[in-house]
Amino acid sequence: MSPPQLREERAVDVERDDERDVAPAPAPTARPTTGPLLAVAGLCGGAGASTIAFLTARQAARADDRPVLVCDTGGPTGGLAACARVVAPRSLPRAAAAIAAHQPLGGGLFADAGGGLRVMASAPEAPVAVERPAAARVLADARAAHRLTVVDCGVPSEPIDHQVLDDASHLAWVLPATTGGLRRAQRTLDLFATLPGRREVLVARHDAAGATAPIAALKALAAQRHAPLLLVPHIPDLAEESPDAALDLAGEALQALVAEMWR
Ligand SMILES: Nc1ncnc2c1ncn2[C@@H]1O[C@H](COP(=O)(O)OP(=O)(O)O)[C@@H](O)[C@H]1O
Ligand SMILES: [Mg+2]
Repeated sequence: MSPPQLREERAVDVERDDERDVAPAPAPTARPTTGPLLAVAGLCGGAGASTIAFLTARQAARADDRPVLVCDTGGPTGGLAACARVVAPRSLPRAAAAIAAHQPLGGGLFADAGGGLRVMASAPEAPVAVERPAAARVLADARAAHRLTVVDCGVPSEPIDHQVLDDASHLAWVLPATTGGLRRAQRTLDLFATLPGRREVLVARHDAAGATAPIAALKALAAQRHAPLLLVPHIPDLAEESPDAALDLAGEALQALVAEMWR
């Protein structure tokens, strides 16, 4: 069960300190040709990056008839494929390497998770070196073909993770809303500069296993990044719970993250 201060904060969901300075967005007249690229990154191991990446993409796919893509950057956990319960033939870096080498793409690029959601996520695999232009091309093509592209970067460590963070239009940092999570998050965030033109959101997810972090401290961390703070309630492990049941619990909070992409 969420602690009371987290529930209270959900009423605001997304808080930003520069609200008054933002001009109202013009009414959309035509669909943009390039969809947003949301990088989701954990601020410590087990932060919830794969879970948030998958459910945010699923929530976005529910709300639009254009397809949404969720990818991972490979690596030894296979966490996104476990959340999605489907495995694509290749992770994003392996697909980019195959395309750059003009290899046939047997099995296609995506697995279909249903409901307009495509998945490019692998079973656990060793990291693969990929040339930056090859990965950039796959990301650009993905954005052109999808309403939204979400990439699960885990705790960013490999060059491909850093490239996705650099190229992203939006970046969601995920941490457990605990005092320990907050301490570890601060140290990780210090390694990453904010970038002009990339909007960040700090996603603090409830974790009953630790001491709840004070809201003021979470807000202060978000303010350091000029980012809104989004509080997300507990989500059961998607290996055991259906995504629709998880979205019954957290869909409202994740819709606020999706809405950030259309601002
Ligand atoms: N709101 C939440 N968001 C994400 N994960 C959550 C949340 N609440 C609880 N969890 C749990 O935390 C764990 C996060 O796992 P995972 O998404 O694989 O983390 P990571 O990809 O950062 O290693 C899962 O067991 C999940 O059920
Ligand atoms: Mg993961």
